[in-house]
Amino acid sequence: MNVDVLVTNIGELLPMDKKGPVKGKAMNDLDVSTDAAIAIKDGHVTWVGTAEDAKDIEAEQTIDAHHKLVTPGLVEPHTHLVFGGSREKEMALKQQGVDYLDILAQGGGILSTVRMTRAETFKELYEKAEFHLDRMAMHGMTTVEAKSGYGLDRETEMKQLEVVRELNNNHPVDLVSTFLGAHAIPPEYKHNTDAFLDEMADMFPEIKEKGLAEFVDIFTETGVFTVNQSRTFLQKAKDAGFRVKLHADEIDPLGGTELAVEIGAASGDHLAVASERGIAQLAQSDTIGVILPGTSFYLGKTSYAPARQMIDAGAAIALSTDFNPGSCVTENLQLIMSIAALKLKLSPAEIWHAVTVNAAHAIDRGEQAGAIAVGRPADIVIWDAPNHMYIPYHYGVNHAHTVIKNGRVLYERQALR
Ligand code: NIG
Ligand code: FE
Repeated sequence: MNVDVLVTNIGELLPMDKKGPVKGKAMNDLDVSTDAAIAIKDGHVTWVGTAEDAKDIEAEQTIDAHHKLVTPGLVEPHTHLVFGGSREKEMALKQQGVDYLDILAQGGGILSTVRMTRAETFKELYEKAEFHLDRMAMHGMTTVEAKSGYGLDRETEMKQLEVVRELNNNHPVDLVSTFLGAHAIPPEYKHNTDAFLDEMADMFPEIKEKGLAEFVDIFTETGVFTVNQSRTFLQKAKDAGFRVKLHADEIDPLGGTELAVEIGAASGDHLAVASERGIAQLAQSDTIGVILPGTSFYLGKTSYAPARQMIDAGAAIALSTDFNPGSCVTENLQLIMSIAALKLKLSPAEIWHAVTVNAAHAIDRGEQAGAIAVGRPADIVIWDAPNHMYIPYHYGVNHAHTVIKNGRVLYERQALR
C-alpha cells in the first residue's frame, strides 16, 4: 500500500467511530486501541490498524507518535468567533458583583461588543477572527461553529456572516455558520422587541439564498427574548429551511430546554438551569445538550449545568467553550474538558464523546467530523499525553503536539531554543 502520510507508534488511539449521537450510559463506553497506526491518502483516512501491520505500508511522510495519545480533531459546536474589540474593563464590574444581565440591561455586555463590531471594517473583523481561529486550531480544534449576533442590524449581521464564509473558504479549519441576529435587543428597538425579531426574520431568505448560514439561534433569557418570542422566531427559521439552536436556560430557568426539544432543535445550548422536566424531555429527544461550563466558571456561578443528571437520564451531551468576549474568553476546549471533569463530574470517556462525535452531531457534521475512520477526512490530533484521561487531568495548558487537518499537518509544537 502506498499512502501520503502514516501516523504510527500510537500509544492510545480513540477512533470514536460510532453511529452517533451517543446517548446516556453509552457515553461511558470508550473504544481504545493500543499500538495503532493510521494511513492517510488524499486528505482522507484510508487504513487504521496496528503499528506492526503498518510496517508494510510505504508512505511519503511517516509521523512517529512516540506512543502518545491520538484522537480525532476536536469539534467545537458553539462559538461567537467574529466580534469587534474586547471587554476586559467589565471584569472589575463583575468583581464588584454586578450581574451579567444587569451589565447588559445598562447597555454594556453584548451591546458594548455590538458597538465595537459595528465600528470595525470587514478586514478588521476578519483578521481578528482569523487570529482566534488559528489559536483554536493550535489547541486541536479542527471543526468550529461560528455565530453572528454582534451586529443586530442587517448590515453588520451580514458583515459577520460574510467574514465566516470568507474564513471558511481560506482557513483549513472547517467552519459551520449560525445566524444569531436575535442575540440581544439593540437600543433602537428597546421598546419594540417584536419588530426587531421581524427585522431579523426578514433576513432569512437572503441568508438562505446566499448560503451564509445553516443554523439560526436565539438568546432565550430574562430581559432578552421570551420563550414565546423564541418559538415564533425559530418556527419562521425552520419554515425558511434552517436548522435551529437556542441559548436556553443559561441564567434564568425559563423553559428553554423544553422549547429546544419541542421545536426539534439540533441542540439546546447552556442548559445550566434546566428543569427536571426539561432534562427528562431532552433525554427522550434527538436534541443534543451543548454544555458550556466555562461560562458558569467565568461568570462566577456557584452551580453548574446538570450534565451528570442529563447523561444519567439518557441524554446526549456535547461540550463547548462558548468562546466570546463576555461570558467565556478562551479558545481552549481542553480547559473546558477539565472543568467538565471537575465541576460537571463527567468521566474522561464521557468528555471525549462530548468533544468529538456528539459535538459533530450538534452541528450536523456527524458524518464528516469527530471520528477517525476509513473514508473520513483525516482530522487527527497527536497529544503530549500518554492516555485519554490525561487531558482533563492536567488543566489550563495546550497539550496538542501535532494537529492534522484533511491529512495535512496544520500545527506542530515547537521545541524551545
Ligand atoms: O453564550 N448568552 C449569550 N451570549 C453569549 C455571551 C455573549 C457575550 O457576553 O458577548 C453566551 O454566553
Ligand atoms: Fe453562546
